[in-house]
Amino acid sequence: MTNSATAVAHANIALAKYWGKRDETLAIPATSSLSLTLDAFHATTTVTVGAEADAGTLDGRPMSEGELGRVSRFLDLVRERAGSTARATVTSESTVPTGAGLASSASGFAALAGAAAAAYGLDLDPRDLSRLARRGSGSAARSVFGGLVVWHGGTDDATSYAEPVPGGEAGGPLDPAMAVVVLDAGQKSVSSRVAMRRTVETSPFFPGWVESTEQDVRLMLDAVAAGDLAALGALAESNALRMHATMLGARPPVRYWTAHTVAVLDEVQALRAEGLPCWATIDAGPNVKVLCSGADLDVVATALARGTDGDEARRVVTARPGPDLRVAAGAGVAA
Ligand code: DP6
Repeated sequence: MTNSATAVAHANIALAKYWGKRDETLAIPATSSLSLTLDAFHATTTVTVGAEADAGTLDGRPMSEGELGRVSRFLDLVRERAGSTARATVTSESTVPTGAGLASSASGFAALAGAAAAAYGLDLDPRDLSRLARRGSGSAARSVFGGLVVWHGGTDDATSYAEPVPGGEAGGPLDPAMAVVVLDAGQKSVSSRVAMRRTVETSPFFPGWVESTEQDVRLMLDAVAAGDLAALGALAESNALRMHATMLGARPPVRYWTAHTVAVLDEVQALRAEGLPCWATIDAGPNVKVLCSGADLDVVATALARGTDGDEARRVVTARPGPDLRVAAGAGVAA
């Protein structure tokens, strides 16, 4: 049995968002969601079985108690299935700034799921890996696959999994790409886990959000099948604004936007008015991700890098569709 394995998973950005769980323990979401896996950010994680106690490092520093606890609870799920009580060492390196609404938990837990399953000798197919990754962080279910991905919300552990959506390839008819406008790479004030729980429990808008997101996912899948990036983009921007409207309705309210976030929204609207098709989406942080065609990516990124708000810290990262999760035996990088 291989007792060490390494996995590489890429970040994904939702176009139809996951915001709210119907079952917290099993991480069953309130709605389905749709995302684009990006080539720009990834996590590389090695799990080595056989240690005194679970231990881990993140980007070369020891994991905090909270981080290690979450990793250890996730490993318990893998151990339970593998019939093992052996502890493990986890080392993870990420190119995603942690906790800034840039999907660090998605790539992190997808890579951990791939490496841990292999290191403990579980033979899981991609769908089962996505169900397992979901238990670490909901959005990680989608990072098991490259390109466009749908996460079927489902009603229980067996029916809540992600799968690829054909049509998301670079250079295809849709040719989706993203300019990621990094405004603040620091830790966010409220974690998405806490914020989404508060939204479910206290926002009177939540039922409307659930209903409209289910519909958005269906309409987006139609847009993808038709190769219609403009329809997909318009739905994505609206869906993101609805998610933030829903959390603004929570008590206490959750607001991730800053003045710089609003400036980028204005800039995206202005670019569209000038005839450059692009659409904004925002996650649990101030940063804005801008969807556009691969052919327009450099022009969009250059325009956004200029900015209109005099923000010296602004950085724009260009991204195209990223690959599936990759897993290899041993400690080498599974490139
Ligand atoms: C705004 O997957 O980080 O990025 O399941 O509690 O770990 P947990 O939440 P997480 O939430 C992601 C929220 C989002 C939208 C999305 O990615 O769909």
